[in-house]
Amino acid sequence: MQINCNSLSLQPIIVKSMKVFTTNQSLHFCLASLKTPASCLGFVPTMGALHQGHLSLIKRAIKENEIVVVSIFVNPTQFNSAGDLETYPRNLKQDLKKIESMESLGEIIVYVPSEAAVYGNSVEKEAFDFGGLELQMEGKFRPGHFQGVGTVVQKLLDIVGPTHAYFGEKDFQQLQIIKKLVKMTKANVKIVACSIEREPSGLAMSSRNIRLTTGERSHASKIYEALKITKDKFSDTPLDEITQWVADKFEKDAIINLEYFEISEQLTLQSANIIEPQKKYRAFISAYIRNIRLIDNIALN
Ligand code: PAF
Repeated sequence: MQINCNSLSLQPIIVKSMKVFTTNQSLHFCLASLKTPASCLGFVPTMGALHQGHLSLIKRAIKENEIVVVSIFVNPTQFNSAGDLETYPRNLKQDLKKIESMESLGEIIVYVPSEAAVYGNSVEKEAFDFGGLELQMEGKFRPGHFQGVGTVVQKLLDIVGPTHAYFGEKDFQQLQIIKKLVKMTKANVKIVACSIEREPSGLAMSSRNIRLTTGERSHASKIYEALKITKDKFSDTPLDEITQWVADKFEKDAIINLEYFEISEQLTLQSANIIEPQKKYRAFISAYIRNIRLIDNIALN
């Protein structure tokens, strides 16, 4: 397998039958040769360190589209700290092997751009106003994060030009913000929400999980456990009691540090005080094991 990320060639880098492009021109050249006006083009944007969660998005995209593009790009503008960006897991060779192993399902085009290909000369985030969605939960603890996500997703959608783009519900707030972005920018793409893939223990799959020790990884299942119990309690327990129960549970836990727990209305993501029967609610958790940040959520009704 030969990968040359500095290649400016218009020729695709062929990894067996898989096409890997590093420049916008070469990607566009390939797409132009494959696309017809009626083609469905599925897009799965990722930051690499691919796991089963990503692979399930790719599988779904293959099922629903004639052409599938997977991007691998660690977006600098969505990280809040240089340390987090630096330690974010990267393994392009392994990622390509994983995608290659799915080639029997359909042809996959991989786009691995440089910063310059995505951002041009200025690696900056746009100051999007997502109507307050960006200020809840993750937004409180990772200021500017969703401006960075919005910026890169808009740029990637412009470059790839998909009819369908696939996002996991693990990052539920991100998903709602991207739906809002598409509405605001009138982008002609359908955002497809895909359910959370979990490890056998229940831990939500995440690229960050590989930084956990075996013991931590199995202990981290307590996060999903708390969400499942929240769901059980939801119909007959006051919300402040549930919130207190979760806080107490993690207060006693020497390994998991709870950052936030919220029960929120699904569309506005605003913290719920009372339950309106016609609305949908979700519980959201963010927690640390050492310096590894884990998030998860569950539909409550
Ligand atoms: O969910 C992710 O991996 C990233 O936030 C995304 C959507 C690929 C943008 O960098």
